[in-house]
Amino acid sequence: MAKKRESQIVMLDHSKAKVELLEKYLQKYLSIISNDGFTEKINLFDLFCGEGIYENGGEGSPIVTLRVLKDLHFINKAKSKITPKVDLVFNDTDTTKIEKLKQIISEKKLHYEDFGKLNYRCKDYKEIVEKLSVYINGLKNEKAFVFIDPYGYKEIRASEIKALLASKKSEVLLFLPTQFMYRFDEKGTPQALIEILEELVDIKNWKATNSVYAFIEQFNNALREYLGKGFFVDTFTIQKDESTVYCLFFFSSHIRGFEKMLETKWEIDQDHGKGWSYEKTGDLFSTIKTNYLEEKLLSFISEKEKPFNGEVYEFALSLGFLPKHVTEIFNSLQDDDKIEVLSQTNGKVRRKAFYISYDNYKNDFKKVYFKIK
Ligand SMILES: C[S@@+](CC[C@H](N)C(=O)[O-])C[C@H]1O[C@@H](n2cnc3c(N)ncnc32)[C@H](O)[C@@H]1O
Repeated sequence: MAKKRESQIVMLDHSKAKVELLEKYLQKYLSIISNDGFTEKINLFDLFCGEGIYENGGEGSPIVTLRVLKDLHFINKAKSKITPKVDLVFNDTDTTKIEKLKQIISEKKLHYEDFGKLNYRCKDYKEIVEKLSVYINGLKNEKAFVFIDPYGYKEIRASEIKALLASKKSEVLLFLPTQFMYRFDEKGTPQALIEILEELVDIKNWKATNSVYAFIEQFNNALREYLGKGFFVDTFTIQKDESTVYCLFFFSSHIRGFEKMLETKWEIDQDHGKGWSYEKTGDLFSTIKTNYLEEKLLSFISEKEKPFNGEVYEFALSLGFLPKHVTEIFNSLQDDDKIEVLSQTNGKVRRKAFYISYDNYKNDFKKVYFKIK
């Protein structure tokens, strides 16, 4: 039997960071969906669930998921609110792991019948994923969330993610060891990676990069292009040590769900001291770092005749930024008299009002537009 790596037995920091993102996102996701007045049931799938608790006591994805669910249930109960049923599927090819997980969940009383159904599977991911997209497609007034956390990347295909998202009823969170993907061996790109990339780009156009972060950016852009309009992708990188970088890719077909995921990402970044900080663009000779989002916004606005608030909201999110980041930049541009905000009817618009939010996106998409002065 192959010897297990340390990360398969004890929970290391990068795995903690991974489940922390899962936990925070699920808290937001479940609370929004359970209050949307439409969704009757939520389906959660953890396709590579593991055994639940590591030898050093670290809690893996199924335990974290159940804790979030339990909290939500009791919070809603205290407020006399109804929680929609949440059906769970925990899957892992390793039957010993599933047995161990079952035992932990029962001993720790982590699941109650009135949460919804709890199912265990011991199937190969490949066998499940195809049927799963058909199943999700057929859901009515229900939503799905799929967590994909393999050891490697060989099994995963972008077309599978696309199929899972196609019906616009689901969100997907995918963990990939990008470091191993980026480190091409001397003989060239490994076949498994070629197979993944070929779905996304013409392999001739794929540029070999000299940094894992450049690889992730290129991969992310290729995914965005591959999935097309109406689908959103962003990444969350986790550095295990100096030479190992993992990446969580999150996919959504709903802009609101995507915004929640971005909020979670920025919150975690802040907790870890890597929060987003805005530095103004300096003049030509300035050494001040150019702000990426500011540059993108300026060119977006100058290229369009009337870039409306709804479009700007969508554009910023598609780049992985939040409405508050846009507002911060617009405030500064307005102070420096570099941007004009106009209403549809060319009426006056209150200073510092930019209408960049989901509510405006939904109800007032064309409230104002922007012009470079
Ligand atoms: C990275 S671990 C999952 C860790 C878990 N999500 C957590 O947070 O603790 C990957 C798991 O996938 C299982 N596995 C490996 N190949 C699989 C396959 N083809 N289909 C389903 N599960 C598989 C392994 O047994 C292992 O438990």
